[in-house]
This record gives sequence, C-alpha cells and structure tokens, in this order.
Amino acid sequence: MENPKNLIIVIFGASGDLASRKLIPAIFSLKTQKIMPEKFAIVGAGRTKMSNEDFRTKMSGAIISYSEEKVSDENLIAEFVQDIYYQSLDTTSENEFSELKSLLDKIDLKYSIGGNYIFYMATPPSSYEVIGINLAKSGLSNQKNGFRRLIIEKPFGYDLESARKLNKTLHELISEDQIFRIDHYLGKETVQNLLVTRFANGMFEPLWNRNYIDRIEITSAESMGVGERGGYYDNSGALRDMVQNHLLQMVGMTAMEPPSSLDANAIRNEILKVFQSLQPIREEDVPTQVIRGQYTGSLIRGECVTGYRYEKGVAADSRTETYVAIKFFINNWRWGGVPFYMRTGKRLPTRVTEIVIHFKQTPHHLFQRESGKLSTNQLIIRIQPDEGILLKFDMKEPGAGFNVKNVNMDFHYKDLADTRVPSAYERLLHDVMDGDSTLFSRDDEVETAWKFLEPVQKAWKNNKAIKIFGYPAGTWGPEHANDLIEGKGLTWRYPCKNLADEELYCEL
Ligand code: BG6
Repeated sequence: MENPKNLIIVIFGASGDLASRKLIPAIFSLKTQKIMPEKFAIVGAGRTKMSNEDFRTKMSGAIISYSEEKVSDENLIAEFVQDIYYQSLDTTSENEFSELKSLLDKIDLKYSIGGNYIFYMATPPSSYEVIGINLAKSGLSNQKNGFRRLIIEKPFGYDLESARKLNKTLHELISEDQIFRIDHYLGKETVQNLLVTRFANGMFEPLWNRNYIDRIEITSAESMGVGERGGYYDNSGALRDMVQNHLLQMVGMTAMEPPSSLDANAIRNEILKVFQSLQPIREEDVPTQVIRGQYTGSLIRGECVTGYRYEKGVAADSRTETYVAIKFFINNWRWGGVPFYMRTGKRLPTRVTEIVIHFKQTPHHLFQRESGKLSTNQLIIRIQPDEGILLKFDMKEPGAGFNVKNVNMDFHYKDLADTRVPSAYERLLHDVMDGDSTLFSRDDEVETAWKFLEPVQKAWKNNKAIKIFGYPAGTWGPEHANDLIEGKGLTWRYPCKNLADEELYCEL
C-alpha cells in the first residue's frame, strides 16, 4: 500500500474532547504503523488561547491517556508532537482565517507539502456553515494547488431542513467530492465486515430476504450516561445523536442489495436505495411505532447513579430522549412485510452493539423442546464488544428420545492471533488522506435519513401527549419498547458483554 501524499491536517475545535480522545491518538497510531505521509503537519485551531508548546503538551498527554494500545516510548511521542502547531481562531472571523492561511503557507513551505490540506470540523455543529464560508473566502478550499478536503462530524444538520440548507451552502462553495461526512460507525471493522459476511459467502445471500427472515433487530446500547456532554446532548437526544446516523447506516448495510462493485458510489447508491424504501412513519403512528425514554436515578452495582435531569448541562424539566426504540418496514421486494426493530439508549445495562437476524420457524414442528417453546435460528452480528458472529441453532441432546437444545456456533475476532482491530477514526482519517469516500455519507443519504425521521421529530414537537417514559438507569429502557415487537412472548434479545451470553442483566 502506498502512503498518502504529503499533507497538513487542520483540526477546528482542537481544544475539545474529540481531538484529544480520538483524532490525535488515531493519527499517532497511523504514524507508528508507518502509514502516514512521508511529510505531514497538524494544525490545531480553537477558541482557547494556547501556545504551540502548550498544545503539544496537551496532545502528548492525550496520546498517553487515550491511545488504544499502551504507548511506552515517550521519545516517539515527543518526536510526533514536534509537527503539531496551534492557532487560536474565532471561526466567525474572516481575518483570523487569513492568519490561518499565512500559517499554513509557512508550514507548507517548511515541509514541502505541495498544497494538500484536510480540514476537520470537530466543532459544535452550529459552526460548520461559517467555517465552510470562511475557508472559501480565504481561498483555503480552492484546489488549484493540491487537494482541499473537508471532514464534517455528525450530526450533519438538526433536521431535514437544516441538513438541506447546510448541503446547499457547502455546494455553493466546494464540490461534493471534497466533503467527507463522517459517521464513525462506518469506520468500525465489524460494520464493514457486514458487507463481507453478506457478499463473500454464498450461503447467506439466498436466505437474506422476506422468505426466510422473520424480523431484524438492531441494538446500540451504552452503559454510560451523558457525562460531560449534557449541554450538547440535551439539544440533540438519542434520535439525532445515534439513530439518524449510526443506526440507519447499519440498517443500510444490513438491508442493501449487492453493489455492482466496491466503488464508493456503487455502495452508497445501494444504501441510499434502502433509505428511500423506508416506509414513512405517519405522525399519528409515532406513539405506537416509536418509544422514547429518559433514564432516572438508580443504584447500579451498589453505586448511586444520577438521573438524566440531574446531569450537568441538562435542563431540570428536560424532555430529551436518552432512549429510542423504533419499529419500521422497508418497502421493497426483498424486505416487504419484514419488521425491523432498532433501539439505542444511554445508561442501559451494558455497552453493546449488534444486529440480530431472526430466521422464520420451520414450517412443521417435529420436535418439542422441554420448555415448550419453539426456537428459531438467529444470526447475531456483534459490532462491539467481543466482535464476532454467532449462529444459534437446534441440536439433538444425546440420549433417548428427541430432546432438542439450542446451541451456539461462534467466531470471535479476538481469536485471530496477531490481528489488531484498528480504531474507526484511524481507518476513516486514512481513507480521507487517500481520497476514498466509500465509508462517508453522501449528501442525498443524509437528507433521506433525516426525511425518514422528520415525522417523528414533528410528532414529538407538536403532540405533547406523546409520552416519554422514565427508566431506571441500568435497565433495558422502558418496558413499553417490548410492545413494539409482534408475536406472542417475543422480546428483544438481552445481550451481554460476551457474545455468546444472553440474560436480562448478566453483567451484574
Ligand atoms: C457518538 C455519539 O457519535 O457515538 C455518542 O455522539 C455516543 O453519544 C457514541 O456515545 C457511541 O460510539 P461508540 O463507538 O462508543 O459506540
């Protein structure tokens, strides 16, 4: 693999959490893997006043604290941070962008970069538009000499209207192929492995449709609360923070048709088609198809846990959802009539993301199980943690009669010796350096995803009678979410940290 061209990465919002926790450790890791360009520099830009040296010290600390693998060679860090610079910047000031340009010119000359710049918007979303405008005004987005690429963090917009507006503004300034809308779930190895599981194996695809699949369940649970991000989260909520992007992208990967090639647009076209086929949820159906909840204070493993309304930055009477579960359908030939269920929430019993394919029952039940229940096959694609795949199926118990037992056949990534699973940000940053937009959301995808959720946003805004259910922190969300699932006695799967385990609260 060739290393990317020499370049400068400018991070807006560099004094914030994302730069420290994810971006700088990811770039450092790419450097230690020797897959960074031969020459590169990083420029942090943020509101906070800081010298180059202060920023370098802060980033050294970030690498030590947040790198996925323990970094023991401090010399390596010291050498790495020498190529990091800092400029304090008010994103609304045209003048300060001219100063940024002068700094970039100097660094460009010093390192013989050749004009290739990546601008990473790690700021609050409200700054995306003005940064785009000021980059264009200062000539920094102009690709006359070298490439200029913009990485935009999620959420891209606040709703359909604001996403359209942001797309329109950006398109007036730069071209779509310069824009990389990041959704870090697409950078996860296991999400990409969905494509391989489905399209590299002949055995799954014939079964992957309404004839054999009863329902599909997608869960992205977190055990943490909102922590220090209450201020942001209270204006966002789980629908905007997780569903519009991460969950719907997983729906796209699970439900898409085989793409004609691995070309970025071939894949994104298929995901877009899934989004376009989502059956619109009517506003009047929101109360029965969408359940929202908010965590309340509770005791988890002997520790008192604060309720959402008491978190820092959260309004005392907040009606922001920290949990959402949605039942929906995809109106196409492959999926017509198959219910899809997705849920996400904070302060659930464990951190787990997985996709469960529930296959239909056999047409004739020869064997009764001891429990009296008929079991069905499930394929569980574990995105995190204990990344892997699990197939559940029935076997005969040895001995007299025909006692049937449900058993597991599983693969865990951790069993692959010497294989390191790179972090999502490593993969995605490297892709931007290579100019590969396959794992980034296109303008039309983002807008179509917002369009699907628009009735939910409208109903919640307009109909105050729609309940937001409290759920004690550390539980699986409001019980009402079980009512979404059709079929007697069916519930969501209650996954555990270990892929093969399943119980209501098995980590306790
Ligand atoms: C982010 C959300 O995009 O994803 C966070 O803003 C959430 O609220 C996070 O915690 C979850 O990501 P991961 O990779 O830990 O599942």
